[in-house]
Amino acid sequence: MKPKWRLRPALESDAPELQRIERACFGEPWTLALLNEALRDPKYLLLCAQELAGVEPEGGSLLGYATAWSVLDEGQLDRLAVLPEQRRSGVGRALLAGILSKLQAAGAASVFLEVRASNAGALELYRRVGFVEAGRRKGYYENGEDALILRFEHAG
Ligand SMILES: CC(C)(COP(=O)(O)OP(=O)(O)OC[C@H]1O[C@@H](n2cnc3c(N)ncnc32)[C@H](O)[C@@H]1OP(=O)(O)O)[C@@H](O)C(=O)NCCC(=O)NCCS
Repeated sequence: MKPKWRLRPALESDAPELQRIERACFGEPWTLALLNEALRDPKYLLLCAQELAGVEPEGGSLLGYATAWSVLDEGQLDRLAVLPEQRRSGVGRALLAGILSKLQAAGAASVFLEVRASNAGALELYRRVGFVEAGRRKGYYENGEDALILRFEHAG
């Protein structure tokens, strides 16, 4: 079966589409200014999943994206998001694997992230990929919800 999408680094011109994804996926979406800042910051890794439709090289619309950064041997996954209508078809898992391998290439042996304790879908995805719970921040979110801190260790 022909793939329906591909992963590629996000570009500055993708900022409005990334914001659309942010708005569709998060209660507190990143602003356009924040996205532009991340896109211009060499410390940030941004990967997006783009539909393989439309005219190359423009391609189709973006289905999801992931962003992370690393300092020395530690990485932080900041965002992982897939448009609601595109979920449960492997895009999130592929974005996660892609950003983890970019972090590994950048030298990050350990990768951390924060996730809402109630986010069962994301927690299941992270668990399956090999993240383990490394801590809990009580009442971290504005609604009083706890954040779980998860850690992933690259083998070797
Ligand atoms: C979390 C998220 C990125 C997953 O994206 P996705 O493209 O649906 O993920 P995948 O299709 O690759 O799922 C891979 C596996 O993760 C698990 N998973 C994903 N979503 C799940 C859900 N809602 N419930 C249970 N398990 C889920 C399953 O094991 C799934 O495999 P399966 O479909 O074969 O059962 C997506 O739900 C999302 O954007 N959520 C809103 C934003 C968010 O919460 N991001 C994470 C914040 S830290």
